[in-house]
Amino acid sequence: TDTLTVSELAEKLNKDTAEIIKKLMFLGVMATKNQDLDKDSIELICEEYGVTAEQVVEVDEIDLDNFKTEEKAEDLIERPAVVTIMGHVDHGKTTLLDSIRDTKVTEGEAGGITQHIGAYQVEDNGKKVTFLDTPGHAAFTSMRSRGAQVTDIAILVVAADDGVMPQTVEAINHAKAAEVPIIVAVNKMDKEGANPDRVMQELTEHELIPEDWGGDTIFVQLSAIKREGIDDLLEMILLVSEVEELKANPNSNANGTVIEAQLDKGRGSVATLLVQNGTLHVGDAIVVGNTYGRVRAMVNDLGRRVQAAGPSTPVEITGLNEVPAAGDQFVVFSNEKQARQVGEARQQKQIEEKRTDKAKVSLDDLFEQI
Ligand code: GTP
Ligand code: MG
Repeated sequence: TDTLTVSELAEKLNKDTAEIIKKLMFLGVMATKNQDLDKDSIELICEEYGVTAEQVVEVDEIDLDNFKTEEKAEDLIERPAVVTIMGHVDHGKTTLLDSIRDTKVTEGEAGGITQHIGAYQVEDNGKKVTFLDTPGHAAFTSMRSRGAQVTDIAILVVAADDGVMPQTVEAINHAKAAEVPIIVAVNKMDKEGANPDRVMQELTEHELIPEDWGGDTIFVQLSAIKREGIDDLLEMILLVSEVEELKANPNSNANGTVIEAQLDKGRGSVATLLVQNGTLHVGDAIVVGNTYGRVRAMVNDLGRRVQAAGPSTPVEITGLNEVPAAGDQFVVFSNEKQARQVGEARQQKQIEEKRTDKAKVSLDDLFEQI
């Protein structure tokens, strides 16, 4: 965070809160001691005491956002889209993911043993697309609740023989809240009762209007099981990614989000990371959520060892001290010592937060008993 309350600022400057309030008043800012100060006010006050705002605020700065590289527009280049598949139960999300993967990944990877790492990348016409192999809702809810936005495009799967169902609507709402474009995949077109017109009709009620009907939503009809329409869908994904102008700087320290993580008996903490900016390298000093370490080894979605992973690439890494949580952010540091300091500070803060949470719970329990 880059805000402080008046009394926090006073404490950092080793001054009386009243004195700071007075100074603020002279500067035309009326504030009480628990009021959050904006950056400008903090800077003004610091100037008064001859210190820079950075010196004062830095001590507290363990928010990983602060350690991400700020990019200049001219350093950014195109990156692959990150796509999540959402939709109602049994409408064919998993089958669709499998058929995309089978038709596109194993095609050029004959004999390659694929490993499940929670995300994978396919290539179509020389362009890559990353699919998150997580239940779409989880990707949106748990990750978004942690402030992580990983998805660029949502594929809404609707079975042509079943139409819009409650979770279809839920998925639409998640995608809308995240402000990501939606491509509708009308699935199970091979089925007897398939009625794509009805699906389109029902979706207009949720402002998803096909281009043919004057709207701007892309609809693709397909059969995941028969592997029909998969290429059309990929083509549309590439089209939408182009419009979105998705960009990143591959020449920066990496940052991104944890897709999933677990403890492996032999390898220790194993985390699947999605690199969102920069390039991740073996040996990088990294803070991941409330843990840290050095990237010991990296494995890509095909189970191969890699040395580097660029923007929008999912990789599985080892080398962290603890197991982070899905949705946690990660940032690479140029300075290993700083990574350790930030990592330890974040760990400490988490322990303290847990303690206060526990204290809260036990107080509540106490009241319950009374
Ligand atoms: P959950 O993960 O439970 O929400 O379901 P899902 O959306 O992943 O659906 P899944 O891919 O498991 O498919 C559900 C059922 O529909 C399975 O029996 C699939 O074989 C079948 N199915 C999926 N796609 C098609 C299709 O294009 N045509 C036909 N006929 N059946 C399909
Ligand atoms: Mg499924």
